[in-house]
Amino acid sequence: MVSIRGQPQVRDVLILASSADNIHVESGQGEWGDVNLSVAWDHAGPEGHLGKSKLLRARQKLGKYRIERCLADGPRCAVYQAYDSIHGCRVALKIPYPEMMDEFFLADFRREARLATRMDHPNVLPILNASFIDELFVIAMPLGLESLGDRLARRISTEKALDYTAQMLAALSHAHSQRIIHCDVKPDNFILFPDNRIRLTDFGFSKIALRTIKASGSGTVGYLAPEQALGHPMFQSDVFSLGLVIYRMFSGTLPEWPYAWPAAGHRRLVSKLRPPMIAWLRKAMELRPESRFSNAVEMEQAFRRLRGRARDPIA
Ligand SMILES: Nc1ncnc2c1ncn2[C@@H]1O[C@H](COP(=O)(O)OP(=O)(O)O)[C@@H](O)[C@H]1O
Ligand SMILES: [Mg+2]
Repeated sequence: MVSIRGQPQVRDVLILASSADNIHVESGQGEWGDVNLSVAWDHAGPEGHLGKSKLLRARQKLGKYRIERCLADGPRCAVYQAYDSIHGCRVALKIPYPEMMDEFFLADFRREARLATRMDHPNVLPILNASFIDELFVIAMPLGLESLGDRLARRISTEKALDYTAQMLAALSHAHSQRIIHCDVKPDNFILFPDNRIRLTDFGFSKIALRTIKASGSGTVGYLAPEQALGHPMFQSDVFSLGLVIYRMFSGTLPEWPYAWPAAGHRRLVSKLRPPMIAWLRKAMELRPESRFSNAVEMEQAFRRLRGRARDPIA
């Protein structure tokens, strides 16, 4: 536990996030409360990452699935490409590490499975099935091509980036309309599918917006909104994170604290987008949550109005 007194410095909190589980922040205006910074860090231990998983090997059988390869190996779980021998198709299997399994850890994954079922949208990755197989908790999903995080390593045309933007907004606005705050909007959590379809996944940190919910600062530091790092996730935090994803996609650069405007990469942004679209993006990335769009539904409506007006390919 780390205590910070006086005016909370978001930068301090973000830096400390990688080394402390719980941070107590007090400000001049009142108490911010304890900030539980990340379930992932809590479970990852001091090294932060477990390294390559030895959970399952290629050709290994898991119920009706045959494992083909490991797609990702995060701090909490591994994701595999597998063949479903009953349906005769490939799927992605998300499997939390059993050695970390406790009731809280499992609750995150159960919630993830339930929330994804609650949503029904072409841009939200559905869950095909979640069950225990050989004592492992297994979430089966349609298999995508790669994440937006991987895709960002290669050039994306302005037209395609605008199309992805529209789809990401549609996904997040659907989640928000169901009162779900994603809390971990970042390129790695958008999965690409054939025909340029992009889908939002990884609802493991999500919150249902109810007054009674105990706020926590879970999320990924790089795309985390300042108030979320301080333990107050809100719809506007997702708006901010999506703003950073979009800024990164068009400019090639991820803005950093204190998010001064114009941020690095602004020149490239200006060469691709017209001023009203840049103003729209800036509003999403405002430091004060009250100055942003109040949720992704509003953000999407504003985007649609701008795109409708654009006559040339640069929106
Ligand atoms: N359905 C899928 N198809 C292809 N790759 C996927 C799929 N789901 C996840 N991945 C890959 O696995 C990574 C981790 O999955 P994710 O659900 O975000 O779990 P984590 O909780 O570890 O972040 C993603 O960033 C992506 O690269
Ligand atoms: Mg993820």
